[in-house]
Amino acid sequence: MHHKTHIFDDCIQASRAVAEVILEKSNSKSKEGKFLNIALSGGSTPKQLFLLLADEYENLISWETINLYWVDERCVPPNDKESNFGMTYDTLLNRAFIPTENIFRIKGEDVPKNEVERYKNLLLENLPVKNCFPVFDIILLGMGDDGHTASIFPNNIELLNSEFSVVQAIHPISGQKRITLTGKTICNAEQIVFLICGKSKASILKQIINNELNSQQFPAAIFRNSQGIVDFFIDKEAGSLL
Ligand code: 6PG
Repeated sequence: MHHKTHIFDDCIQASRAVAEVILEKSNSKSKEGKFLNIALSGGSTPKQLFLLLADEYENLISWETINLYWVDERCVPPNDKESNFGMTYDTLLNRAFIPTENIFRIKGEDVPKNEVERYKNLLLENLPVKNCFPVFDIILLGMGDDGHTASIFPNNIELLNSEFSVVQAIHPISGQKRITLTGKTICNAEQIVFLICGKSKASILKQIINNELNSQQFPAAIFRNSQGIVDFFIDKEAGSLL
């Protein structure tokens, strides 16, 4: 595993760099006659990236050769303000022409355990498989203030090592049910791209990037088990302690 950290003046520039990664990787996949399979995260940080993709990259990226999946979803209907799909719809899908058959959302409104099974099977049917786990080309991750990534929180860190590619999780404070990719799926990706902005992330980010003692308690430290490329795109506030 080899990771690179890219620090930008602000989150817009960090988001632009991520957009460029998506553009380049989709171009190189297209040249090989392949689709780009990407899993998107939710939360607030990717909003700027999605707006940028819709506003400036709609015509640059060949969306007809990109399949969009999700890293995690909150168990709410797609029109709920908490929905990760809903946020992506408002900022990107509704504003750029992306074929609907290329969009594979996690259905937060369905019975979670049934949806976990459906999504697990869908990934196995649609993606290449290595070591019994699906292989994404890019997994876009964020990091919470508590060091969680995807919907794997520090109090459920064992989900990182799950034998399943997709599982149910619970937010430790709100008790909200979630559906999330697990550590082995994340680490099977060709490339992991973290987009992390803001001062509240600085301390934990420093601990995981510097591989400090006890940093393995933070789920975001999972990147150390990655089989592929790992890139951190961060703003200078998140990188202020590096
Ligand atoms: C979610 C996410 C989650 C997110 C982090 C960071 O559903 O909440 O996918 O893992 O990436 O919580 O969120 P912020 O960008 O809001 O800090």
